[in-house]
Amino acid sequence: VAGLVVAMDGPSGSGKSSASRGVAKALGLRYLDTGAMYRAMTWWVLEQGVDPADTDAVAARAVEPEIVSGTDPDAPSIHVDGVDVAGPIRGARVTGAVSQVAAVPEVRARLVALQRQIIGDGGIVVEGRDIGTVVAPDATLKIYLTASAEARAQRRHAELSGGGAEATTVEAQQAELARRDKLDSTRKTDPLSLADGAIELDTTALDLEQVIAEVLRLVEERG
Ligand code: C5P
Repeated sequence: VAGLVVAMDGPSGSGKSSASRGVAKALGLRYLDTGAMYRAMTWWVLEQGVDPADTDAVAARAVEPEIVSGTDPDAPSIHVDGVDVAGPIRGARVTGAVSQVAAVPEVRARLVALQRQIIGDGGIVVEGRDIGTVVAPDATLKIYLTASAEARAQRRHAELSGGGAEATTVEAQQAELARRDKLDSTRKTDPLSLADGAIELDTTALDLEQVIAEVLRLVEERG
């Protein structure tokens, strides 16, 4: 499995993270959450007092923070200049600003280069929005996960409530997901889209084990 690269793309709440980690664990592969890297950059931008809407300022400073991603699927981690930001990057402030920061071409160039370095010779499951299209177009297997807007909002809500984060409703989650999906799929640089050769997997009616089993079957078939 050394050279194996599994690209897992799709919108927020499609079940990418849990499925990607599950597949990585089952196959003994590393795991990379590229969304966490865009969130980490956004956390740093806010921490610096830079306005996330100020594209020029964000672009000019995108090379500054040192972002380090741990790739153990049992304990994924993310540090910015040595600070553990795994908690704060899931908060409403970062979530509200991340799509703006992720739309800046200089941010994407920096993080895509980092992601390719981490992928290296493979042996990894990578989740994001542009993995099959931009980061790893030669991936062994490209999966595009989808789910109905209602199912995605339900999952995000359950996740956030379970994580002890700020209180929210399913309706608020659905509006927030729709807002982010729109920004992510209409931006100029590397928008969320179905990659050439990607296999679409609708997870609306599937539980996590079924999604993992289906991806493992596809790896077996193609890998
Ligand atoms: O996956 P997650 O919801 O944590 O991603 C947060 C945000 O990071 C997305 O809404 C998107 O704006 C950005 N992102 C991206 N490209 C990726 C992964 C995430 O633009 N490969």
